[in-house]
Amino acid sequence: MHDLIVIGAGPGGYEAALHAARLGKSVLLAEKQYLGGTCLNVGCIPTKSLLHAAHLFELAQQAGEAGVVIQGKPSFDMAVAARRKNQVVGQLTRGVGSLLQSAKVEVVMGAARLVAPGKVEVAGKTYETRNVLIATGSRPARPPIPGLDSPSVRDSTGILELESIPPRLAIIGAGVIGLEFASLFASVGSKVHVVEMLDRVAPGADLEVAAALQKMLKKRGVEFSLAAKVKRIAGGTLHYERGGQELSLEADCILSATGRAPVVQGLGLEDLKVDFSPKGIRSDERSRTNVPGVWACGDVTGRCLLAHAAVREGQVAVNNMFGQPDRMSYRAMPCVIYTHPEVAWAGLTEEEARERGIEFTAERKPLRVAGRYLIECDKEPGFCKVIMGARHREVLGVHIIGARCSEMIWGAAALIEAELRAPDIAKIIFPHPTVSEAIKDTLLAH
Ligand code: FAD
Ligand code: NAI
Repeated sequence: MHDLIVIGAGPGGYEAALHAARLGKSVLLAEKQYLGGTCLNVGCIPTKSLLHAAHLFELAQQAGEAGVVIQGKPSFDMAVAARRKNQVVGQLTRGVGSLLQSAKVEVVMGAARLVAPGKVEVAGKTYETRNVLIATGSRPARPPIPGLDSPSVRDSTGILELESIPPRLAIIGAGVIGLEFASLFASVGSKVHVVEMLDRVAPGADLEVAAALQKMLKKRGVEFSLAAKVKRIAGGTLHYERGGQELSLEADCILSATGRAPVVQGLGLEDLKVDFSPKGIRSDERSRTNVPGVWACGDVTGRCLLAHAAVREGQVAVNNMFGQPDRMSYRAMPCVIYTHPEVAWAGLTEEEARERGIEFTAERKPLRVAGRYLIECDKEPGFCKVIMGARHREVLGVHIIGARCSEMIWGAAALIEAELRAPDIAKIIFPHPTVSEAIKDTLLAH
């Protein structure tokens, strides 16, 4: 009898397994495809490796301005970048294997299924357990677009396998995945055209920041068709409708980036009466499902499709199942779009604050107010926007567009989570010269 069986070895699952094992519990982790899940194998890590390579290429083209002389014109070798990406993925996934081994987590490769209360079947064997944590993640959604199975269409997994640069890339969807790949391929010379059915990019981000990102990507050659719905695909032609007009565009590769669907099928959830829908397994802030002893974390809940959210939800599940009450908070969830320039935020957007009827003030500062930004990132006209409660001057939301912001946003999330107010923040010392000084200036401008 195990204390816990975890289904799925993505960040939610493997971190939860490690946490429980470190609490002295006997843990089995079942994984049907690869340790590290989407995040390490076909998500966060490989995309960031390629984005880094593409950014280096851009920097190489600008190096002359800083006095660095490169003989000849720099070029980009996608096959080499892909090899480096695969090395990084291999190193990290092997690392997960070693961590699990040293924590004495029993790993079983195979598709797991709940067969009865407290019983999980994997690779032809049935195991008994006191608790089950479902962390089966998500897969690319497939919108009902005729022709989506054409060979020119790839999803976020398929496009990572490209070893050459498509001269013309069409992207369906201006969400996080669509924008990150648009930035990546624009940097290395593709002609990128993004078709999005909403009238904005980056749903979920502050509208002002999203508009600034769109403008900056446009300046780098990315074309956008907004309020445009893709109707069908024929070979390499994407047919879409905008303002009642039928339009089309030709591409060598089409990326379908229209969201992700939780993996809820084939797990035996119906038989155990676990409450779920195509949008995910319903779970509460303690990561409990409606069935005692069955817990869920990560993308499979459909709540917040981020690796760090999955990790925290898994930790909350383990703490609660082993007698340490814990609750998940989404209030200051850090979100990042790893485009060039990057976008990062935590807390409320201006639109959310308005919808909730909160009295607030919003201040903005260009990141150039920080000398370090001027030195290193002058090409990107980034800015920081802070939303504060009008009465108590507590931080409600921090939104940044510009280089380095992915590394700074956790600090903003900490301010929000700790409910710090302007006078407390004034006492915090920010190092000089750093880009983060621009955030302090924006916070104190209220
Ligand atoms: P997953 O990582 O999806 O892992 C689930 C695992 O469960 C998989 O390994 C799967 O094989 C396994 N599984 C499924 N069914 C079964 C079964 N029946 N039995 C056994 N095993 C099973 N998030 C970020 O925070 N930052 C980023 O930069 C970022 N970039 C991304 C880029 C891309 C292209 C994509 C697609 C996603 C990105 N994400 C990013 C999202 C992130 O990958 C997910 O939020 C994260 O992986 C969710 O973790 P998880 O543990 O819930 O699920
Ligand atoms: P998404 O939900 O963010 O965006 C999908 C977009 O496609 C939406 O804007 C939607 O309006 C549009 N769309 C859907 N159908 C369409 C159609 N027929 N025609 C035109 N547009 C259409 O989903 P995305 O980008 O696929 O990402 C999935 C999840 O993965 C995200 O929610 C995010 O949480 C996670 N992720 C996180 C990253 C990060 O943290 N940096 C990076 C990549 C993914």
